[in-house]
Amino acid sequence: MKTQRVLTGITTSGTPHLGNYVGAIRPTVRASRLPEVESFYFLADYHALIKTSGDPARVQRSTLEIAATWLACGLDPERVTFYRQSDIPEIPELTWLLTCVTGKGVLNRAHAYKASVDKNNAAGEDPDAGVTAGLFMYPVLMAADILMFNAHKVPVGRDQIQHIEMARDIASSFNHLYGDHFTLPEAVIEEQVATLPGLDGRKMSKSYDNTIPLFVPREQLRKLIMGILTDSRVPGEPKNTEGSALFQLYQAFASADETAALAKAYAEGIAWGDAKQMLFERLDQEITPQREVYDRLMQDPAQIEKTLKAGAEKARGTASPFTSRLREAVGLRRLDNVSVSAPVKGGKATAPAFKQYRESDGQFYFKLVDATGQLLLQSAGFASGKDAAQTISKLRQQGYAALAELHPSLALHVDTSTVEAALSHFRETNT
Ligand code: TRP
Repeated sequence: MKTQRVLTGITTSGTPHLGNYVGAIRPTVRASRLPEVESFYFLADYHALIKTSGDPARVQRSTLEIAATWLACGLDPERVTFYRQSDIPEIPELTWLLTCVTGKGVLNRAHAYKASVDKNNAAGEDPDAGVTAGLFMYPVLMAADILMFNAHKVPVGRDQIQHIEMARDIASSFNHLYGDHFTLPEAVIEEQVATLPGLDGRKMSKSYDNTIPLFVPREQLRKLIMGILTDSRVPGEPKNTEGSALFQLYQAFASADETAALAKAYAEGIAWGDAKQMLFERLDQEITPQREVYDRLMQDPAQIEKTLKAGAEKARGTASPFTSRLREAVGLRRLDNVSVSAPVKGGKATAPAFKQYRESDGQFYFKLVDATGQLLLQSAGFASGKDAAQTISKLRQQGYAALAELHPSLALHVDTSTVEAALSHFRETNT
C-alpha cells in the first residue's frame, strides 16, 4: 500500500549539473521506486520566472533539459506523477487562498528575500530596490505546490528547509481557520547534497559558475574534471582527502570500497592527474548510458511535451476536486444552494437544519445551518450520498460527541458551543 506521499520540484532556470543530480535527481528517482511511496515530481517553471524574468527562451530550454534529465535518469512517468507546475492552474489559485492566511511578517523573514534586503541596505540602497513581489511571495507559491498534493515528505537541499517550515505554518493557519484540509509536510535532507563541491571547491552552484553540467559531451566532461582545483602537492607526496573537492566528488559516485581505495591512493601520493582520471572514469561509467537516453530525448521535445501533458492530467485529477473543496471551505461558493433564510413569520424561528447537496466535483456534501440560515458546519466531500447521510445521522443521534471523531471531515464555522446547541435540537425534537 502507498503510505507516503513524496513531492519535490526543480526550478527550471538552468542546466542540470552534478550537484542537482546527486542532491535531487538521483535520490528522487530511487525513492520513486519504493513500493510504499507515491511520488509527485514537477518542473517548477512558475518559480523560474522569479529568477529569470526577461529570459523566456531560457525558461523553456531549462524546462526541456530538466524534464529530459529526469526521464533519462530513470523516472517512470507511469509510476509517478510527473508534471509541469504551470500546467496546473489550481496551483496559482491555491497560492492566493494561502496568501490570505500568511502573515506578511513571516515572509519578511524568508532567507532569500532577507538576503536581497540586507544586500541593498549594505549598499546604501532602498531596502526593496530590485526586489519583486514574486521573490517575496516565493514561499507561498512553494507551499501551494506542496499542500496541493498533501505531501508528507519533501526532499530538498538545506537552503529550502525554511520554506518547508513556512509551508507547515501556512497549512496550520489554514487548517485552524477552515478545518483540517492540509497534511503538514516535512523536509527530507540528503546529507551529501549541500556539500557536493564544484570545480573551485565551493558548493557546486550556478551562482558560483563552478558547475559540471550533468550531460556535457564526454570529452568536455574530461576537460572539466581535469580543471578541478587541487593543491600543489607533487606526485609521490601524500594528499589530504579532507577538503579535497576531487575526493568528495568521487565519493558521491563510488562505492564505499572504491572510496577507501582512493583514500589509500591519496595517502600513497597518487598524482592529481591520475586521481582525476579515476574520477572521470567512475563518473563516465554512471553517466554515459543515461547521456545516450538524454541525447535521444532532447531530439524529440514533442514526446516530452506529451508526457508532461499526461502527467498534468493525472495531477489535476487530484488538484481539481481538492480545489473545489477548498473553495467551498473558504466561502467561494455557488449561490444556487444557498439556504435563503425563510422570512421569520410571527417571530417564530425555523429550526436548524442539515442541507445535503452535490458539487460539480461529483462529491456529496452537507452543511448544518441555524434557524436564520447561518452556516455552522461544513462537511468535506463524500464519495456517496449514503456516506454523507450516515454522517448526518450520527451527528443527529450523538450530537456534539460525534463531532470530535468526525472532525477531520468537518469544518466548523462558528464556536463549538453554538454547534453543540444546534445539534442538541435534533435529539430534543427527535427530528
Ligand atoms: N524552491 C525549490 C528550489 O529552488 C524548487 C521548488 C519549488 C520546490 N516548489 C517546490 C521544491 C516544492 C520542493 C517542493 O530548489
